[in-house]
Amino acid sequence: EPLQPLDMIIFGGGGDLAVRKLLPALYMAHLHGNLPPSTRIIAVGRHVYDRASYIEFVQERSQSFIEAKNLEAKAWQEFLGLLHYVALDATNGATYADLARASRQGVERVFYLATAPTIFMNICENLAASGLVDQHSRVVLEKPLGHDLESAREINLAVGKYFNESQIYRIDHYLGKETVQNLMVLRFGNGILEPLWRAPNIRSVQITVAETVGVGSRAGFYDGTGALRDMVQNHLLQLLCIIAMEPPVSLDPDAVRDEKLKVLRSLRRMRLGDIARDTVRGQYSTGAVNGEAVKAYRDEADVPADSRTETFVALRTYVDTWRWANVPFFLRTGKRMQKRMSQIVIEFANPPFSIFPDAPRTTANRLVIHLQPEESIQLQLMAKQPGSGMQMLPVSLNLDLQSAFSQRRAEAYERLLIDVVRGRLTHFMRRDELEAAWSWADPILEGWQELAERPLPYTAGSWGPDASAALLAREGFNWIE
Ligand code: BG6
Repeated sequence: EPLQPLDMIIFGGGGDLAVRKLLPALYMAHLHGNLPPSTRIIAVGRHVYDRASYIEFVQERSQSFIEAKNLEAKAWQEFLGLLHYVALDATNGATYADLARASRQGVERVFYLATAPTIFMNICENLAASGLVDQHSRVVLEKPLGHDLESAREINLAVGKYFNESQIYRIDHYLGKETVQNLMVLRFGNGILEPLWRAPNIRSVQITVAETVGVGSRAGFYDGTGALRDMVQNHLLQLLCIIAMEPPVSLDPDAVRDEKLKVLRSLRRMRLGDIARDTVRGQYSTGAVNGEAVKAYRDEADVPADSRTETFVALRTYVDTWRWANVPFFLRTGKRMQKRMSQIVIEFANPPFSIFPDAPRTTANRLVIHLQPEESIQLQLMAKQPGSGMQMLPVSLNLDLQSAFSQRRAEAYERLLIDVVRGRLTHFMRRDELEAAWSWADPILEGWQELAERPLPYTAGSWGPDASAALLAREGFNWIE
């Protein structure tokens, strides 16, 4: 179907996300011919720009992007020509008249809400009152979508008054990553894995999302949020869902999201005792990352000196289903880790019996899926060490996806924005999914409050507090770095 003319309206148009992620993604989509022929990008914000000064601001802020991508000057100029700007106070309905004038009649409208979620409701209400919303309109909601179940419900309820669920695109940018989408193909495009993909053939699952960056200039947001809300409740749980879900009947948005929802609803709820035993909270202290000395979290700009916000989480959880009975899922994420690395490790069961009396203990077979920065998959097998005995050692079959496919990889936001333009919902979170994820996270957040423990300090540039390794060691496991 040919694409209809589009007005892409970005609330928070002067903000960091718009400039760092959304506009570059839209530029790439434009460059590759993935925007409708008649597209207008209308940035909206409180700051007073006119069109020329907004374009100038974008141009200035995009220098590093322009240099990194070695931009095609002509396409970039064309792209800047798509930009418009409307100054308005999102919470004041009287100021929407200018937006209504700037948006064309008879076009499809996408509203991208890259503002604090506290004003989502105001925005939707004012958009509707200004006659800008029709049945073709779509709304994109940027995280954080609430800070607990109750606030997430409020947002969903508020937005749901003006948009049907099929018009709502809740972004989790991890779902736009090429390597994350490839997990579906790995699992459901290959026949050999599925029979193994269950208890008791799988001994454990590990999901790590490690970052080297610190809180940067985002303390204002981050200190009230912490790693569980910022990373685990959304990105890590989405990865867990793809690993743990039953085969969906199709790639239909609801078919996929129904299966993810079942996983989220089967996640074992933690009680206080589980929280004390099975979760680790950490906060980085001074240290060095990639050879460079870095500050402690508490010394970062805008972080209170007595902050108890966690910048690291490790935990053990279970998916209480027939397929996953008693298989521990170990999750961990942190800032200021030793290296940037996101990976999933599927650890298979040991052989039930060893016929090699002299051999060292068999190392479990495992499938290691590197999501970023590397894109590769390793299958670790035991092999005989050449020689007279029967000594064995683990070796790996290595699939390097970067060299297997040399094509350009679109950034997550580019791919997701194209999905929004084309009306494809599969890689976005449904309302009930979001709420189920919060229902699991809420008791942990409350338990931490109740336990009133400080996060454990860990040296910046390490793999987190010792308690994280101990959490696995206790059960005879270890993190695969
Ligand atoms: C965001 C978090 O959702 O994801 C950030 O708010 C985090 O704190 C980022 O740094 C990580 O994304 P990526 O794509 O760099 O792994």
